[in-house]
Amino acid sequence: MDKLLEIKNLEVDILTAYGVAHGVRGVSLEINAGEIVGIVGESGCGKTLTAKSVLGLNNPERTETRGEILFRQKNGQTADILKLKPAELRAIRGKEISMVLQDSSLALSPIMTVGRQMADVIGAHRKVTKNQADEIAEGLLDSVGISEPKMRLKCLPSELSGGQLQRVCIAMAISSEPRLLIADEPTTALDSVTQAQILALLKKLSGERGMAVLLVSHNFSVIKRLCDRVYVMYAGMTAESGSVAEVTENPMHRYTADLLKSIPDGTKRRLESVAGALPDVYADTVGCPYYERCASRAEICKKKPEIRAVGQHKFACACSEGFKDE
Ligand SMILES: Nc1ncnc2c1ncn2[C@@H]1O[C@H](COP(=O)(O)OP(=O)(O)OP(=O)(O)O)[C@@H](O)[C@H]1O
Ligand SMILES: [Mg+2]
Repeated sequence: MDKLLEIKNLEVDILTAYGVAHGVRGVSLEINAGEIVGIVGESGCGKTLTAKSVLGLNNPERTETRGEILFRQKNGQTADILKLKPAELRAIRGKEISMVLQDSSLALSPIMTVGRQMADVIGAHRKVTKNQADEIAEGLLDSVGISEPKMRLKCLPSELSGGQLQRVCIAMAISSEPRLLIADEPTTALDSVTQAQILALLKKLSGERGMAVLLVSHNFSVIKRLCDRVYVMYAGMTAESGSVAEVTENPMHRYTADLLKSIPDGTKRRLESVAGALPDVYADTVGCPYYERCASRAEICKKKPEIRAVGQHKFACACSEGFKDE
């Protein structure tokens, strides 16, 4: 497989007035060309910090980012995102790697037409006339399933629905023909029907364009619907990773099993929430970070767990024999 992105032992510390917050404490992750990979975990586990690190978006004055983020560029060379100069980073960000955020209203200006904003983004990556930019924008809106694209280009964001706006943001993100699209909770603000449509759109675009997608979500059902492989994050670390089928059908980390019990699948009468809270982001972790909340914990879990693996299925749990039937 053609490796596109390889994150090695990523750590992100945030320097705050209260001390150093350990937002990401050692995440390793790989994405192959054209693959759809998910990151899942509860609020505050470090998903967004990981995603932003890939785009080099952590503020160097307030964060310390360590590890390696190796990205294979179009020209065949591999760059470590964390070592690039600002100009080198700009050549990759928004061009070879794009991002779609949870709330499209935050990404778009309310006082400029959709067409003008799209033309600006298109013009940032290629030399085109205004007419050419309009034509490209129209084609892009069409490819993300917006009807009457010519007319929509003249609209202000407030004249479009939430689902349409998210489609506009996706159209802008793919305008540079990126090889990796990072989508951070792209459907959380949408109703379930629109959510399903946007996920189907991402899958279609990935297939048509050979574009890899890193999908960030707190919702396992979203990940199950779209992704080939998944990384389950907990307290800034990877608890478990593997194919979506392996991880969801045979979870090997208690946290994954607990998270899976909290998603609606149409058969459960009562959903279980994961009791307790994430460990203090300012404190060092000793042993397994899930220890306090884990119903299966054992003496050995007081020590930092080694990563165990069955083929490509990896899990950071010292005592697990699987939680398939629980
Ligand atoms: N600027 C900041 N100052 C202090 N702490 C921060 C800051 N940014 C992130 N953190 C902390 O780092 C941890 C990871 O944050 P992150 O935004 O990556 O979580 P997340 O998994 O994306 O959560 P959510 O699902 O709510 O978006 C959290 O505990 C958060 O409180
Ligand atoms: Mg987030």
